Amino acid sequence: MQVGNKNYRSIWLDESDPTVVRVIDQQKLPFSFEICELRSVEDVYAAISNMTVRGAPLIGAAGAFAIYLATLEMNPATNSWQHLKNAARYISSCRPTAVNLSWAVDHVRERINGRLCGKSISEEALEAALDICKMEIENCKAIGKHGLSLIEEISKKKTGAPVNILTHCNAGWLACIDYGTVTAPIYLAHEAGIPVHVWVDETRPRNQGARLTTWELGQAGVPHTLIADNTGGHLMQHGMVDIVLVGCDRATRRGDVANKIGTYLKALAAYDNNVPFYSVFPSTSIDFDITDGISEIPVEERGAGEVLTISGISGKEVVTVRICPENTSAANYGFDVTPARLITGLITEKGICRAEEKDIKKMFSDKFE
Ligand code: MRU
Repeated sequence: MQVGNKNYRSIWLDESDPTVVRVIDQQKLPFSFEICELRSVEDVYAAISNMTVRGAPLIGAAGAFAIYLATLEMNPATNSWQHLKNAARYISSCRPTAVNLSWAVDHVRERINGRLCGKSISEEALEAALDICKMEIENCKAIGKHGLSLIEEISKKKTGAPVNILTHCNAGWLACIDYGTVTAPIYLAHEAGIPVHVWVDETRPRNQGARLTTWELGQAGVPHTLIADNTGGHLMQHGMVDIVLVGCDRATRRGDVANKIGTYLKALAAYDNNVPFYSVFPSTSIDFDITDGISEIPVEERGAGEVLTISGISGKEVVTVRICPENTSAANYGFDVTPARLITGLITEKGICRAEEKDIKKMFSDKFE
């Protein structure tokens, strides 16, 4: 996507040095636009855990590149395969909820094990990581087209008045490789001249909505309004939301969806107010081995500091301040699960379906035994 007058992806291989993976530092946005260089498995682990890179598809791609970098760290003197195995286990354990991470790490290892002779381990690993990036970009493009049809339908009914979309967290191009999941249909609608307006949840405690989604939509010129996380229900009660579009970190084979903490509450409000609620994601975010999201999806717990403090810009300096009395204890669950019964539909690269096992099975029959 365009940043200023230059096209960017959220992750790419350094053109001049193939041992360096480059990413946009999402911790610094929107107050500064900085690029980070990842040169080792350790660098990738740090970037994923401190959320320099975040968002399910991007975490997956970063995991894939980590296995590639691990192959560059292999030296004949040491037990190389053991190093690769350790790196895969280490990186996959970095953040538990987004299934894309373990999927991508396993996928690159399978490619390495199945590589054609004459091809080096690193060549195959790099190709696999780049293929995952290409595939996720195509997935988001396809998701954009399918999601656009929903926005067009609502726009027709509204005879040209803006389509009001509510979203939670950041499921934009920053969270993917390009185009985004939730944002892909929004960008297409905007480019097609269909009036849209986005209610952007701030998304405490790390404010991915306030920091990243507003920044992305601002770069693209898409009208949007930042709201406190608890505002969506009120807006829905007053008919000010036409559709809710949220991302996904792990969906189950029956359509339960884990996404950023707070998503479940938006689904409840949407259900209570008959507002269509869609989760938007590539099939790499589906865990076909599990069914019951609430009991089977691991929910990440992060440090209390993220809840006890808030960061922002003061003058030219980014500062972090405590927002509560000293010695206050805090709990910080990163995700929650929205049961399929509250979801109107799923928007994937293969199309739109109901959040039901038989519909998901029809769409991804090759993934069901
Ligand atoms: O903790 P984060 O910022 O990685 O959480 C991200 C989300 O919950 C996104 O909605 C999800 O990963 C989908 S990104 C296309």
